[in-house]
Amino acid sequence: MKELSGKTAFVTGGSRGIGHAICIALAESGANIAFNYTAADDKANELVDLLRTKHKVKAEAYKADIADEEAVNEMVAKANKAFGPISILVNNAGINRDKSFLRMTRAMWDEVMGVNLNGPFNVTNALLPGMIENKWGRIINIASMGGQTGNFGQANYTVTKGGLIAFTMTLAREAARKGVTVNAVSPGYTETDMTAGMPEPIRKQVEQMIPMGRMGTPEEIANAVSFLAGDRSSYITGQVLSVNGGMYM
Ligand code: NAI
Repeated sequence: MKELSGKTAFVTGGSRGIGHAICIALAESGANIAFNYTAADDKANELVDLLRTKHKVKAEAYKADIADEEAVNEMVAKANKAFGPISILVNNAGINRDKSFLRMTRAMWDEVMGVNLNGPFNVTNALLPGMIENKWGRIINIASMGGQTGNFGQANYTVTKGGLIAFTMTLAREAARKGVTVNAVSPGYTETDMTAGMPEPIRKQVEQMIPMGRMGTPEEIANAVSFLAGDRSSYITGQVLSVNGGMYM
């Protein structure tokens, strides 16, 4: 039997990038996969097919904006009906709206808070009680190196990622005696749509600053998540696992 056989994982923002790789990694470990996506993505159905046919697990995709509490509650109710109890949550969905602080608008600030911080609040709020009831759960929050170091042009984004790290530690303390561990994975620069628009000269500069000399792949982030999702990490909680090629130590 595989490590996560019989368990269900809920992954936000699973239709592309890091979330897509996380869905596949957890399915490879045997977990059934419920994932969420937004209207802009059209790869959700392809992923559902892949998970069902290649990985032979149950899979469903739900279209909903995680910043919308009512939509999240409806989505989780549907997922619970389809899968039964959900014991693994990966708060992965996130956005950036970059500008130096003096040029950042209130709307850019609020939009990023809504998805990157209120989103994890909404989904965790809907799923944590079930994990506590079943006395077993794993919550993995996808933070960012920027939340540990700050980053030029990302006041809004880095606040949410630093906040997610603080949320991880507080929730870990509150859930520790209830069978639920809460950890963060903090990626450095990773090859996804989020970084695809980076101009070539900047990309070269970034690669020179990374001790390993290259950006990470979504699969390298997903491997850390799948470790934290299973029993091999049973005594690890409240931690930030950095996956960044050595860029921040
Ligand atoms: P991406 O832009 O390729 O994918 C983001 C995913 O989130 C998509 O599936 C999208 O549908 C979903 N999403 C966006 N807004 C949503 C909303 N309101 N409701 C529900 N889903 C929504 O991003 P990527 O690169 O895969 O990032 C995943 C996570 O990793 C994010 O939290 C990001 O901040 C974090 N991260 C990414 C890094 C990178 O270099 N790519 C570095 C550090 C952290």
